[in-house]
Amino acid sequence: MTEQTPQPIKKKRVAILISGRGSNMSSLLQASLAPDYPAEIAVVISNIEGAPGLDTAQQAGLKTLCVAHEDYESREAFEDALDEALRGHDIELICLAGFMRLLQARFVHKWKDRILNIHPSLLPAFKGLHTHDRAIEAGVRFTGCTVHFVRPEMDDGPIIIQAAVPILDDDSPETLAARVLAQEHIIYPEALKLVASGLAKVHDRHVKIGDASDPAPPIVNPPVKAP
Ligand code: GRF
Repeated sequence: MTEQTPQPIKKKRVAILISGRGSNMSSLLQASLAPDYPAEIAVVISNIEGAPGLDTAQQAGLKTLCVAHEDYESREAFEDALDEALRGHDIELICLAGFMRLLQARFVHKWKDRILNIHPSLLPAFKGLHTHDRAIEAGVRFTGCTVHFVRPEMDDGPIIIQAAVPILDDDSPETLAARVLAQEHIIYPEALKLVASGLAKVHDRHVKIGDASDPAPPIVNPPVKAP
């Protein structure tokens, strides 16, 4: 019997778009280094010159580019340049990771179901900025984070994965943000894995996950104490 050599998996080529710190970018990069991870980070693109995440990416040996929106006279011109850079790197999937620029319908349609975003709330609650201040102010017992496919409306689109984070009585926006960020770093690599492997697929407005993993258990906050 001849022994079969395991075939290397064909990894999807991913671009990460950032505007700032890039901690989610780092978590995606870390995950992508595993030999069986179905995606590789081909390029990191920032729309802001000097974004700290660019340095981190360079130090990690990643290809980086700056497509500064300021250098373009219109949103269309900026997005055309972005599109060209992405195609020039044979990109198959885009991960927005703290990318602070709304993408217009024309661009989003070109890349339909191939752009992922992470947002620090349990969407559709608390779209937009200052999510943690608003969650504390609203008195909800949970907030969290969401990875979703991008649609032209802000923080909208089929949801791939969410992590619920209990809000504590003495939370400040900063303490809450830190606990949510820790979950972001777990769910974004998982979402990319599900999409790149073909397990997560869009059906109309929903994402179906094509494996039979056990359902997540419900969580209660404050916890119910056994009698
Ligand atoms: C994260 O909280 C992400 O959810 C939001 O912007 C922040 C980016 O942080 N979209 P980082 O640049 O990934 O550290």
